[in-house]
This record gives sequence, structure tokens and C-alpha cells, in this order.
Amino acid sequence: MSKTTKKSSGLSTDKNWWRQAAIYQIYPRSFADSNGDGIGDIKGITSRIPYLKSLAIDAVWLSPFYPSALADGGYDVDDYRNVDPKLGTLADFDEMLAGLHKQGIRVFVDIVPNHSSNLHEWFKEAIDAKPGSKARDRYVFRDGKGANGELPPSDWVSHFAPSAWTHESTFGGKNGQWFLHWFAPEQPDFNWENREVQKDFLKTLTFWSDRGVDGFRIDVAHGLAKDLSEPFRSMPVHEGLEQRGNKGKGIWGDRNEVFAIYKEWRKVFNQYDPPRVAVAEAYVHPERLPLYASTKTLGQCFDFRFIETPFEAAAYKAATKEAIDLAKKNKSSCTWTLSNHDQIRHATKMGLNPAVERRDWMLSNGTSHPIDMKSGTQNALAATLYILGLPGSTYMYQGEELGLHEVTDIPEKDIQDPQYLRNLKVDKGRDGCRVPLPWTSSGSSFGFGSGGAHLPQPKWFADYSVEVEEKDSLSPLSIYRKALKLRSELQTKEDIKWHKTKDISVLHYSRPNGWHCITNFRGHAYPMPKGEILIASSPLVNGRITAGTTVWFKKK
Ligand code: NOJ
Ligand code: CA
Repeated sequence: MSKTTKKSSGLSTDKNWWRQAAIYQIYPRSFADSNGDGIGDIKGITSRIPYLKSLAIDAVWLSPFYPSALADGGYDVDDYRNVDPKLGTLADFDEMLAGLHKQGIRVFVDIVPNHSSNLHEWFKEAIDAKPGSKARDRYVFRDGKGANGELPPSDWVSHFAPSAWTHESTFGGKNGQWFLHWFAPEQPDFNWENREVQKDFLKTLTFWSDRGVDGFRIDVAHGLAKDLSEPFRSMPVHEGLEQRGNKGKGIWGDRNEVFAIYKEWRKVFNQYDPPRVAVAEAYVHPERLPLYASTKTLGQCFDFRFIETPFEAAAYKAATKEAIDLAKKNKSSCTWTLSNHDQIRHATKMGLNPAVERRDWMLSNGTSHPIDMKSGTQNALAATLYILGLPGSTYMYQGEELGLHEVTDIPEKDIQDPQYLRNLKVDKGRDGCRVPLPWTSSGSSFGFGSGGAHLPQPKWFADYSVEVEEKDSLSPLSIYRKALKLRSELQTKEDIKWHKTKDISVLHYSRPNGWHCITNFRGHAYPMPKGEILIASSPLVNGRITAGTTVWFKKK
């Protein structure tokens, strides 16, 4: 017998709803603060359901809201089946879920299976336990090298640098061993060969599915299985995509054993009606993506290529075609995305000269080179309309609907991100895209809450606030709302046809029901083809589409 989602919801009954959904990512601590402590919370999200409804999205994805000491923005989880008391309670979660479902909006939660936090019950138990114990086997503890075990067990580096091993004494352990963490030391990696670990995640997936959660975003989905055979292979630099394009036999990323885990998860998903869905965050070689997006494993996988595709016609066309071919191969649908909580906001990238080294620019607090914020936002809107017209799902990140830019000048004392804190003066980190949203043009924290914001908001946020943009029919928010509503009405079979244009900087495609999309990336204004204009990311000038503009139109 399958378990059915409660009938009181306003959700569609289509089992394939996820294939072409518009999904909006909420970073809960920076979305809306209901009790004025400077931290966004669950009740804050509930209070903004009318806003979410106005976006005409199909689902929200919530980044972690679980108990956490925030060593990595909540991706260090103390308890997978609870809500951080600073963010609310499980009852608040249920209320939010019911409220969203009533409005026809589904909910994804984030599952972080590669590592827990150092404050998870199991890790605390492991630190107190002896080498070789059951408690230590849930993580990866090893003896060190050197005469007295004073050196790490191998040369492996962590994603946040430097070593992937930390001595247990850092957290009070007294047995002289080291533990493995591919991210911060406060994020110890689980041992995924341990049956108790495997079973506990099945319990977590069931826990949230039973509550009515519709889908899961799987953090570092490629990371769980590792080659822990000894002697350890050498990995003195972080293994990138290139090294992992090695047929599933890397040290920590994308090993073939990982799919057995997801096949077991699939059995949980399929117990529900409609089946629960999942999307993998897997930074792997593109030819490996289908393995994660298979209907036997997670079903869908992020395709991150547009995050780094330059805003140019040829590059956009090639990236679109490749992604569509790949999705066809795995019988999944495409997953378009321009931004998320780990990336520099795309409006900023698009307003910056592409030749600028972005990491250095961020370290200079955005002062080493000029940025054209206006054209960045304009190009970003054109890019959004381009990807929203394509077949497949689109994952958007909170604030992009306001055309928000990266905050580049967060003072050092306010920085929270381990990507900076563990790489001082090397990488400014990701806080700049996680600054709490501006809801109003004035007031405490621009309407985020009554007690300030946990990351400082710049003055220019006022001009990008929901309050200001709602009054302007040409603002990014108004265009997102209109485009998403149109998209929900126009979305059709997952087919696409390309049309020739008279300018290499212009792309034109259409969908089966006469829905056309044309983008002028740069250069001369381009004559508008015949048809009924549905929406334009920027106004036409003398009947022409200017550079950095996308238009949707309908042809009989
Ligand atoms: C990917 C998440 O998106 C990122 O924010 C986090 O730092 C790492 N995984 C580690 O969990
Ligand atoms: Ca709060």
C-alpha cells in the first residue's frame, strides 16, 4: 500500500509534476525573520506564503533548517529529524508545509548525508569511544602517521582546505586518532559502509516523507562512497571534475558504490503516492550525471553548466543543446539554474567584464574593477527568460527575482563562511549571496525582521526591495511574476525547435504550442519577428529587441 499525501492540499495529482517545475530555493536564515532576533525562521517563511504564491512557482526548496552551530551555514547538521530551535519547531514546520500545500506549492528539504556536524549525538559518542568501537565505525577514524601518530593518516586535502583530517583532540578526544572531513572539521564524514548509518538515513527520508515533504535535494550526492583502502592513495590537491571523470573509481567523489545507496532510497520514495522525488547535487563529469538522474536512483540531477556559461549566443546554444541531449539519454528532464547559495549572484557576474578574475575582485570588496549593476540586472533578466522558456525544470535562488547583486563589501569581522575563514585572504566566500532579503525600502533590516540582520545589508538594497519593485511594472520582480505565470500556462511537451536568425548574437527557439523565445545577447537592435508579444525582459525600442533582451511571443 502506498502512503498518500493528504487530500486537503491544493497540489496537482500529476506524478510527473517535477519534470518541468519552477522551484524557488529559500535559504531560511536569510529569508524572513518573524521574531526579531536577526535570523530568518520557519514562521517567517509561513508569513511570506502570499509572496511565494505571487511568484507562481511549483515548489520551494529549503536549505537546511535543522539544529546546527552554523560552522557551514547549516550544512553541519546536529539532528536530521528536527528544526533548529532558533528557527522554530516541528509544529511550525507542519504549519508552513500545510500552508504551502494549500496554495499548490510543494516542498523540497535538503538532505546532507556525506557528513554530520561535530555536535551530532553520534559524533559526540564517537569522540568519547575507543578506537575500533561501534561508535567510531559510524565515522572515519584512523591512526596518524609518524613515530607517535602526530601526522595525518594521508595527504588528502579538504574542500575548504587545508587537511581533510583533524586530530580528535580538537574536539576533546583522548585516543590520539584522526577523523576524516571533506569539508570543515566541524563536518565529520560518515562511514557509508556502516549499516547503521545507511538505515538512519532511510529513517530520515521516511520521517520527512511521512510529514508530507514532496522532494529532497541531496547535498554532495557524489561524495558518500570513498576509497578507504590502505595504503591510502595520494590526493595532495582537491580532486576536481577532471580527476573524477575516471569511471567511478575516484578517492572520494563519484564512486560506483554510491548508486547502491540511492537504489535503496528509491524504494522509500516509491512507497508514496505521488512518489517522493530527489535532485542530486553532484559535481561530476557530465557523462556520469545520468547515473544520478536515473529513475532507479535519485531521478533528477542539477546541471550547473549555466552558472559558468558566458552570456553569449553561441555559448548559450551549445550549453542548451548538450544539456537537452544529456537529459534525453537518462530519460530525466533538464535542470536549469543560474544561481544558488554557493555562487556569486548572476546579475553581478553579468555586469562585470568577463576578463576580470572574480575571486580577486571579490577579495578587493568589488573595488578593483567597475561593475555595471544596471546592465548586470538587465542581462540576468534576459538570461532568466531564456532558461524559463526551455523544456525542463528551473531552480531559482531567493533574491534573483529582485535582480539582486552580490554584496561584495562584507567586513571581515562579519564573515561567517568557512570558505573564507579557512582560506583567509584567498577566497572571500559565499556570504555575499546570503545577505537577508530586502522586503521594504527602509526600516530595520529592510523589512527582513524587527531586530537587524545576521549579515550586514548594504544601502543600495533599498532600491531592490520587494516594496519598491512591486510598484514598478518593469522591475525584475514584476517580470519574474509575469513570466512564471505565463510559463505555468504555456509549459508543454518537452520539445524544442531552433530557428535561424540574421544575427549570430541572436538565438530563437520555439516550443510545440507556438510559444517562441528570442534573445538578443549583444550588439545591434534586432527586428521583432511577427507574432503576439507575451513578455519582454526589457522594453522594445522602435519595434526592435535591444542587446540584453529576451522576448516571448506567440505564433498561431
Ligand atoms: C554543498 C552545499 O551547497 C554547500 O553550501 C556546503 O558548504 C557543502 N555542500 C557541504 O555540505
Ligand atoms: Ca528569527
